[in-house]
Amino acid sequence: MATPKGLEGGLTNYGDPAFSAYLRRSFARSMGYSRELLGKPIIGITATASGFNNCHRGVPELIEAVKRGVLAAGGLPLEFPVISLGEVFLNPTSMMFRNLMAMCVEEMIRAQPMDAVVLVGGCDKTLPALVMGAASARKPAIVLATGPMMTSRYRGERLGACTDCRRFWARYRAGEVSDANLERIEGGLATTEGTCAVMGTASTMAILCETLGLMLPGTAAIPAVHADRLRAAEATGTAAMELAHSGRTFNDVVSERSVRNALRVLLAVGGSTNAVIHLTAMMRRLGLPVTLRALDALSDSTPVLVDLKPTGQGYMEDFFAAGGVGALLRRLSPLLDLAAMTVTGSPLGETLPEAQDWIDDAVIRRVEKPVSRTGGIVSLFGSLAPNGAILKRAAADESLFERGFRAVVFEDLADLAARIDAPDLDVNADDALILRRAGPRACGMPEAGYIPIPRKLAEKGVKDMLRISDARMSGTAYGTIVLHVSPEAEAGGPIGLVRTGDRVRLSVAERRLDLEVETTELERRRDKQPPSEVGAKRGWQMLYRDHVLQAEEGCDLDFLASA
Ligand code: FES
Repeated sequence: MATPKGLEGGLTNYGDPAFSAYLRRSFARSMGYSRELLGKPIIGITATASGFNNCHRGVPELIEAVKRGVLAAGGLPLEFPVISLGEVFLNPTSMMFRNLMAMCVEEMIRAQPMDAVVLVGGCDKTLPALVMGAASARKPAIVLATGPMMTSRYRGERLGACTDCRRFWARYRAGEVSDANLERIEGGLATTEGTCAVMGTASTMAILCETLGLMLPGTAAIPAVHADRLRAAEATGTAAMELAHSGRTFNDVVSERSVRNALRVLLAVGGSTNAVIHLTAMMRRLGLPVTLRALDALSDSTPVLVDLKPTGQGYMEDFFAAGGVGALLRRLSPLLDLAAMTVTGSPLGETLPEAQDWIDDAVIRRVEKPVSRTGGIVSLFGSLAPNGAILKRAAADESLFERGFRAVVFEDLADLAARIDAPDLDVNADDALILRRAGPRACGMPEAGYIPIPRKLAEKGVKDMLRISDARMSGTAYGTIVLHVSPEAEAGGPIGLVRTGDRVRLSVAERRLDLEVETTELERRRDKQPPSEVGAKRGWQMLYRDHVLQAEEGCDLDFLASA
């Protein structure tokens, strides 16, 4: 049992601890707190609202509810700002700043006098960054997700960010949607606070955090605007007080059992490919390895049970109404290790709801009637991806799984933008589009792996092609898209040596991705490559480029990644 230190924890160093405590009390009293309240355990709360983060619009209200819970349990809640990452507001990509946010979170938790911390976040990179930071800070912590957005309607069709964003954009590019209607759709895609409404990265990460035992049971999927979300926030504040007394940190909660459970659930929800990178980074901070081979070893024995977009039909509000994470874990329980610990102090199995009398089988399928008998993501290895790549097979066209392709190569993002819609682009529907120099070191690994179908093919009705890159893809996107090819081109990976006209071969059955070019020829090409001049010469972006790890290592910075 830890003894909360409250305001006197981690004193500012003036060489006289008593003076430091007296000075801190004095300044804290200037904020109007009574001496009695200042003597209570302190619960920090990360304030991640930002004018540049629509998904976190409801965070101030959530924080007020957390405070109620802390006060009712006899503590002093103090919110503090950390970097906020609004997915679509960041250039070149929010991924470039996840580790910066994690550093900020770690240092502010460590430096300030708090006995436990409530991590409030939701938009894609924020939950991973918050967990990474709190894991490294080694203080008691608990996650509170913002919750997902609600859907709206367009001509009787449901609209939800952001699978429908891409669906209608593809139809617009194919000439099937007018400018005027696109504007109407734009106004209806994201109409409430909260994170993207489908099983994208934010939803996947919230569900994984609940599975890992880092947040209160039953809270990951509550819609952002639902009153239950505020009740969850209040309960999270109360739970943080228990953590302040018990001293339980993420290190005490998460184990190899939890990691296996999280991988199972990632596969069973048809979750975002980005979650593989984030889970790897989060777990490395706790000294727990996550490998592409471990993911793959579970993939064939884990059914997809959740039928949500982008691979299925529903939205997160349907998942919540269907029973949420508790119902899913209950159904998946024969495949889970229920002895894994949770932040509540009880093992996962004891936090699950009693057998529920009703679960919406259309949204959370029975194991006997899954969406798919095998998991949503597979790992690939081969001469084109020696250290691995991934494919979201649940979102892909199986007719492309066991074939050779002619490569059509784009040198980088600028080349892609310049040529993808060119009428004279030499491309056919059965080619493979390859994008390189979009990996972590090259440019922060943007979500550029969802390479658009060349306009001249889209206009002929081509909806999918094999696409391969060292980039990521939005969790809300879909298609036969091989991602995270490692090493990336910028780190000397063979993807940097492919030429248009080369043959590449994909075999999902054998988990292979190969470049059918002689090794001697590849070495000849490598010798002729000019040295790279990519990247910033100063500041964060230089630090990032010089220290970022590859995708299979979680894209953390090398000096932050260890436990
Ligand atoms: Fe924030 Fe999708 S933009 S979760």
